[in-house]
Amino acid sequence: MFILAIDSSCDDTAAAVLEEDRSVLANVISSQFDVHARFGGIVPELASRRHIEAIWPVVNEALHTAGIPLERIDMIAATQGPGLVGSLLVGFTFAKGLALVRGIPCVGVDHMAGHLLAAFLETPAPAFPYVALVVSGGNTSLYEVTDHTTFRPLGHTRDDAAGEAFDKVAKLLNLGYPGGPAISRTATRGRPDSIAFPRAWLDKDSLDFSFSGLKTAVLNHVNRCRQKNEPPAVADICASFQEAVVEVLVEKTVKAAARYGRRTVVLGGGVASNPRLREAMKKRCRQLQLDLFVPAPVYCTDNAAMIGLAGYHQYQLGRTVTPDADVYSRFQVM
Ligand code: KG4
Repeated sequence: MFILAIDSSCDDTAAAVLEEDRSVLANVISSQFDVHARFGGIVPELASRRHIEAIWPVVNEALHTAGIPLERIDMIAATQGPGLVGSLLVGFTFAKGLALVRGIPCVGVDHMAGHLLAAFLETPAPAFPYVALVVSGGNTSLYEVTDHTTFRPLGHTRDDAAGEAFDKVAKLLNLGYPGGPAISRTATRGRPDSIAFPRAWLDKDSLDFSFSGLKTAVLNHVNRCRQKNEPPAVADICASFQEAVVEVLVEKTVKAAARYGRRTVVLGGGVASNPRLREAMKKRCRQLQLDLFVPAPVYCTDNAAMIGLAGYHQYQLGRTVTPDADVYSRFQVM
């Protein structure tokens, strides 16, 4: 079975071709950094307009790269939510229309399910059950995953997502957009223990996250430097901020694994491509003899291959959509 998968949940137009859940034949991503960079964040209206321009070329490129013509595609999987409604509508409506014309099934996939399963795009793949941390621009969440379609929520951010905090701190420090990669690059030149930024552990035993206080602490630190006419030590701020985020992410993840008796940990989402997070999680998991699976950065950030994989397993359960199915903006995998 050949699958065409589409993701347009936020600011990337992505298409992939998979042979069942076994191999990714093409994985194409058209980013919109150039559109949004000068605004320092995503402008939803501009994102949906760019998706409209990009969707056909991106799908065509994926089919061409895979060497599979549209006539040989057996099923289409597309992100149905959560995300920006205008952006989702472009990819999901395109997928439903194409499936209708071709007379093949269409599956609506939850973007979170894609991130939770992305590690299966790599070899070796994890074994069920596992604890997964999905950490991106829109989510910071812990789940227990027991099979390809069963996800139990264990904790969520109560305010900002970690990626959002990276982006906002980068904007404050004039490091450009997207902020995550800019901060992690700058942090390599700084000392992670130079500024004692707060760690939000929340209530004892909580597996929830909070990053808004940390973001405010960085803002206050920068303002204090400016009041004293001292230039802020940007590399030290980046390294210390990153360390505060990473420490909480790592400790809450291993706490979740211990609490639910799971020996396997999986990472996903754009922030999972952060080198310091990958290194710290690896070290902590090794200490605790947990097996860690982290997808390659291209499968951590938004991509359609993970949507194809998640869609394939939903299709096995007969979960297809009809042409009147609508997108949704909020979490459903909860
Ligand atoms: O999963 P993703 O591609 O998109 C969604 O949020 O849906 O994640 C994007 C987020 C952005 O906030 C970006 O700043 C962050 O992931 N990010 C990083 C890194 N690369 C991307 N954050 C920290 N370090 C990185 N190296």
